[in-house]
Amino acid sequence: MKDILDKIKSNKEKVPVHVAIIMDGNGRWAKKNGKERIYGHQEGTKSVKEVIRASVNAGVKYLTLYAFSKENWRRPKEEVDFLMELLIRSIESELDELKSNGIRLLVIGDTDSLPEKVKDKVDNALEETKNNDTLYLIIALNYGARWEITQMTKKIAERVKKGEIYVDDIDDKMVASHLTTAGIPDPELMIRTSGEKRISNFLLWQLAYTELYFTDKFWPEFKEADFYEAILDYQKRERRFGKISEQLKQEK
Ligand code: IPE
Ligand code: IPE
Ligand code: MG
Repeated sequence: MKDILDKIKSNKEKVPVHVAIIMDGNGRWAKKNGKERIYGHQEGTKSVKEVIRASVNAGVKYLTLYAFSKENWRRPKEEVDFLMELLIRSIESELDELKSNGIRLLVIGDTDSLPEKVKDKVDNALEETKNNDTLYLIIALNYGARWEITQMTKKIAERVKKGEIYVDDIDDKMVASHLTTAGIPDPELMIRTSGEKRISNFLLWQLAYTELYFTDKFWPEFKEADFYEAILDYQKRERRFGKISEQLKQEK
């Protein structure tokens, strides 16, 4: 483990500043092991702790975890209730640890329409960690990119209507500053576990040039070393942003 971490760190300028993860496959992992789906969610919290620790070790500054989508409300009520309870319990049990490790919690998503109990816990954790800056841990909670983009459009339209801005002032910077991720750099790397190769309404705007990494491991199987593997893979890639390879070599 130390070897792979040293390797990542020796390529310091290619350590991603922001890693985003679609934590997928809890249910299938549980079924595979002859258990109920909720057992998978419970075990998944261990992987969350692993990737937080790995991010701090590797020097990643922002870690975004997709915890609950706008569409996840469509699941059976018992599963949704369990996930909300798990969230409350996890915040309760991990808050001190976050604080002592200098981790700041941030949340993106439609938090206003979360159950009151969840909202209170989240708000408290945001407040309690607000002065930390070792790692920004961003939880995508009741998040959906189409919802986010629709909100942004309404906010900008409202400002035009009020005469605060002109239509011609609207550019990509302005759009980004009206998303829930305002002020957060776009992820350089996005990881999805469980073998699915789709975005599932996650960060549609922000992922425009993100490197995508897919692994067949289910989320409860994804550990610290797997996170480093993903970063190592990322470090081998050439990000061209529309240019050609020769240009990038000249710029070096
Ligand atoms: C991801 O695992 C966790 C959430 C979406 C909350 P799933 O619950 O989607 O597990 P699978 O994909 O059904 O196996
Ligand atoms: C995406 O996983 C959402 C989260 C990980 C929170 P899903 O399991 O909900 O995605 P789909 O439905 O398979 O696309
Ligand atoms: Mg899933």
